[in-house]
Amino acid sequence: MEECSRRDLLKNAAGVSMLGLLNLYAPAYAEEKPAEPKKPAANEPLECSQAPLPYPYDALEPHIDKETIEIHYTRHHAAYVKNFNSTLQRLDFARTMKDMIFIKHWCKELAFNGSGHVLHTLYWSNMSAQGGQPKGELAELIEKSFKKFENFTDQFSAATKTVEGSGWGILAFEPCTKRLIVLQSEKHQDMALWGTYPLLVCDVWEHAYYLKYRSARGTYVDNFMKIINWSEVERRYELIKGLKIY
Ligand SMILES: [Fe+2]
Repeated sequence: MEECSRRDLLKNAAGVSMLGLLNLYAPAYAEEKPAEPKKPAANEPLECSQAPLPYPYDALEPHIDKETIEIHYTRHHAAYVKNFNSTLQRLDFARTMKDMIFIKHWCKELAFNGSGHVLHTLYWSNMSAQGGQPKGELAELIEKSFKKFENFTDQFSAATKTVEGSGWGILAFEPCTKRLIVLQSEKHQDMALWGTYPLLVCDVWEHAYYLKYRSARGTYVDNFMKIINWSEVERRYELIKGLKIY
């Protein structure tokens, strides 16, 4: 790789981090419910955009104040969106240059900004001034999973209040048991992008390769790449391609 390209990557890496601190652009909130996200056209870049806030900044007063919502939405969430798209572009560039030297950095940026965007999008839409109670099949599944609604609220509140440092309390559907579970996400940048669905995974815990490959993890991964069952990956993609998270 040419030196100037490597310098560009370094500069871009610094730029992305700075954007996290400096992003101040401020889209307006929507009076109406946000429109359904549209499917990108074939030639459209696969990027994310920040959906309009589904209520005015002061709609959740007195529980959450207007200024907090405004700063949170227009600065913090907006920065995640902008930096997520920048990261996707930087990765495009890195692939074009066939240079994976900063791959750990970009994986972390992808997880941090992508998860930040998805989780904030859910957060805005899972609040409303009216509040309410779960109904229908969701209410039934809460009962089935937690025995009673009060048990769920106890667990969700306790888990959320005890997140160490920054993070999230999360109610999630777990598809193996088909039950609802409560999770803490202490650092959403820890290499998972919430809201994505795994299609293909490679286990690199040592138990997966150490007997044969010892410390040569790279050789194990190279050989793993030769034995991927792409028809199963395709089947999983068919299962999830219609799902939307928001
Ligand atoms: Fe936030």
